[in-house]
Amino acid sequence: IHPTAARRPNYLTVQSQNTSYSDEFITSKFVNRGASVNVSNGQFLVTPTAQTYEFQTKRTVSKTGLMMIGMGGNNGSTLCATILANRHNIVWHTKAGVQQPNYIGSVLRASTVRIGTDSVTGQDVHVPVSDVLPMVHPNDLVLGGWDISGASLDKAMERAQVLDYDLQRQVAPYMALLGKPLPSIYYPDFIAANQEARADNLIPGDDKQAHLEHIRADIRKFKEDNQLDRTVIFWTANTERYSDIIAGVNDTADNLLAAIKSSHSEVSPSTLFAVAAILEGEPFVNGAPQNTFVPGVIELAERHQSFIGGDDLKSGQTKLKSVLAEFLVNAGIKPLSIASYNHLGNNDGHNLSAERQFKSKEISKSSVVDDMVNANRLLYKAPAEDVKGAKGEHPDHIVVIKYVPAVGDSKRAIDEYYSEIFCGGRSTINIFNECEDSLLATPLILDLTILTELLTRVKYRGVDKKEFAPLYPVLSLLSYMLKAPLVKPGTEVVNSLNRQRNALEAFLKACIGIEGSSDLLLETRIW
Ligand code: NAI
Repeated sequence: IHPTAARRPNYLTVQSQNTSYSDEFITSKFVNRGASVNVSNGQFLVTPTAQTYEFQTKRTVSKTGLMMIGMGGNNGSTLCATILANRHNIVWHTKAGVQQPNYIGSVLRASTVRIGTDSVTGQDVHVPVSDVLPMVHPNDLVLGGWDISGASLDKAMERAQVLDYDLQRQVAPYMALLGKPLPSIYYPDFIAANQEARADNLIPGDDKQAHLEHIRADIRKFKEDNQLDRTVIFWTANTERYSDIIAGVNDTADNLLAAIKSSHSEVSPSTLFAVAAILEGEPFVNGAPQNTFVPGVIELAERHQSFIGGDDLKSGQTKLKSVLAEFLVNAGIKPLSIASYNHLGNNDGHNLSAERQFKSKEISKSSVVDDMVNANRLLYKAPAEDVKGAKGEHPDHIVVIKYVPAVGDSKRAIDEYYSEIFCGGRSTINIFNECEDSLLATPLILDLTILTELLTRVKYRGVDKKEFAPLYPVLSLLSYMLKAPLVKPGTEVVNSLNRQRNALEAFLKACIGIEGSSDLLLETRIW
């Protein structure tokens, strides 16, 4: 068994006054240290702050289901096939030799965190991220979901043309047992017209309230049939066009529920699925770029304390961009323009070749450097204070996506970073990035699902509070895997991949009572 797929007993124990273990919970004390800054007349008055919290994590992982919307697509079918390959330890032959299944590309299963230094050797000690707290093993996820295409999962895998033939051949009988995805809702106005040919597996009618109830019943039945404690509902269906935000329709929770009742045309399938998940008290994650989370959905999630996360998987080009742009700006170099071209030949690319669906992707890809630029007013001029709605200086940033069927799932991403350097110089970095799209995206879906399940088991309280409370419904801790992270309204989006990872690592460690990442390594700097 490949190490990333291996099961390991939970062996990490923290010995500290701040951490206690019971059969049911790990409880930890954490001091959230920061600084409050008073800015006045160009002077910064900085006051260190510290609030003490307790985290309580349920130790038993939930029996967890993953219901994907778009289960029969490239990501959905690849996810099912690779879990089954891991579960049944199927090895297959490629022209390079024998290949073992694994979970490479999953942050949780294939990356490590530095947990401290060895008490004897003084060497760094790293553990797999999945060992920090009890997490669901991907092999244990119960798989299900919906698709507007009625192809059975073995046929869907074949259609996707992602996996090696020898793996497909061996995993097909297991895929066939998953059968056909559940029928889904199809509002042609929301996805590209070129998808119509595959829409043969539909919940009949056009009554949106009836559709909502149908989806809710599907979720309940899936939970019951499989005796699940938790089911993560995951949108990995085609990218939809943006929904217009209309006062009285989708701006508040009550208006949205009323709009569903009256089958308003601006309620998208993805929003309907999100509402169904929230009303069933199950988490919903949006792996595509459209604005599923209209304000009414966020309010509904708050009302029901039900978790949501999104938007859009960050697999290739954007992941690199959020690293490279940060590297340049933090190195004191000024990107003047970032030009990104993609071409891809899978069904996602076909759908994105339509203008309105492309627009959703363009928006999702475009804000990724904003926070790094805004953080450096030495390089980029701040917005004029006396002009309402003024934007600060910003690099030119374009995104182009073209559909080229021949390259299939192997997306090509070409990026040019053109920057100003010392005393009027210019530097150009060109990157050609070839991504096997679904093989990059699938581990992200797993990470998002497993992290989401974990975050439903973590509660917190301030020292002066009696009761532990769940986290805020918008799970911004998922940002590392998402292109356009959804955050608590009124708070800032962090796009920097490093900061996103640090946040995740710091949170997991906080839950076991270890503070900070201590890259300071003070002991190595002093006598
Ligand atoms: P795909 O086109 O192969 O699969 C999408 C599936 O959704 C299809 O089987 C389609 O029949 C189904 N579908 C469409 N509307 C539906 C509805 N209303 N209900 C149920 N099923 C529906 O696409 P792929 O490559 O699997 O990507 C899925 C989504 O993930 C796309 O929106 C894509 O933009 C997004 N994404 C993919 C990334 C990747 O690297 N593969 C990266 C970032 C985002």
